[in-house]
Amino acid sequence: MSLVVFPFRTEDPKVVEFNLRVAASHPAVGRVLAVGAEEESTYQAVEAFRSELAATTGTPVDLILQDRIGSKRPGKGDGMNTGLRYFLNETDAERIHFYDADITSFGPDWITRAESAADRGHDVVRHFFPRSSTDAMITWMITRTGFALLWPHTELPRIEQPLGGELLFTRPVAEALVADARVQDQSDWGIDTLYTFSTIQAGLSVYETYVPQGKQHAMYGGLTDLRTMLVECFSAIQSLTGEVVGVGATHQIEATAAVPASITEKIGYNLEATLHLLGEDWTARQAELLGHFPTGVKEGMLANRSTPTFLFLDEEAWFLSFRTLLEAYVPGDPDWEAVLFRLWVARVISYTATRALRGYEHSQRYLAEMVDGYRRRAELGS
Ligand code: LAC
Repeated sequence: MSLVVFPFRTEDPKVVEFNLRVAASHPAVGRVLAVGAEEESTYQAVEAFRSELAATTGTPVDLILQDRIGSKRPGKGDGMNTGLRYFLNETDAERIHFYDADITSFGPDWITRAESAADRGHDVVRHFFPRSSTDAMITWMITRTGFALLWPHTELPRIEQPLGGELLFTRPVAEALVADARVQDQSDWGIDTLYTFSTIQAGLSVYETYVPQGKQHAMYGGLTDLRTMLVECFSAIQSLTGEVVGVGATHQIEATAAVPASITEKIGYNLEATLHLLGEDWTARQAELLGHFPTGVKEGMLANRSTPTFLFLDEEAWFLSFRTLLEAYVPGDPDWEAVLFRLWVARVISYTATRALRGYEHSQRYLAEMVDGYRRRAELGS
């Protein structure tokens, strides 16, 4: 039997109810757990509907608040780690699944796919799905880039969606993650990076299952919406620099299928609400910190104080900038955070203007080749 966990904050209660019902109705699921970040309106709504849900499906539906476990910002990491501990301490289920509570395209097949891969012996199952050409910009520009630069010989840069929160772990994997102090400390958005990293470093068998309908969620406003996530995901990667990863992990990726127009035609973020971020809120110290970067990057960024410029932040400039960030970035320093954020914004707009504009197929191929090029270059040590 499996436990299905939904960490949540403030979501549409109707969507949460639908998703909990899908899980509770699935024959492989013996228990469902909702983990709330705080006792707000969504939490109250789940409290109100969960007994009826359990009665009609015959599956217990529990609701708890997340514990304070890590030392970073109390966020999704504490929620997921609370779910892992509950799984080990309160149930004798063999497998744990995690799903985001706000997915509007969730269905029983998500659970079935993961279960059948686990039945075939995989320790970890990760769901991946098609993303629009301007979505997944932290995934591509930060996490997959970072994995390629730091661990080019391993499976890490080949994980399709290293920030994905839709996962299955067997019980021994959950035990290892709870015993891993780095993972338990990562209470913020860095948790997905740490789960991915730790499971590959442990040499497990990882299967990525493809969900063709995609994970539907709202468009981001300006890229500001993603600032905290960006900073926390970058810091998580940087904190792992120097870790040694062997090649013991096995990794299989399910074949993909035709991508629906709802994804190929979707706009990932609002460009107009993003462009002006390049010129805003500069401090003298941020300008000074750019001295760490190659001259072209420094001058291109400084020019943004008067006019938006971003085309200079191409694939090569991003490679060099990322290496500098890995060495020089100081976590928790607000000026460094602003420098990281503005560089990433410029890189994303540059990619949007030169690649995403050419269409879905082109941009997907470009991003995959970009990461593979970084990986090969890091492998050669150049
Ligand atoms: C990512 C975030 C933006 O995957 O969803 O990059």
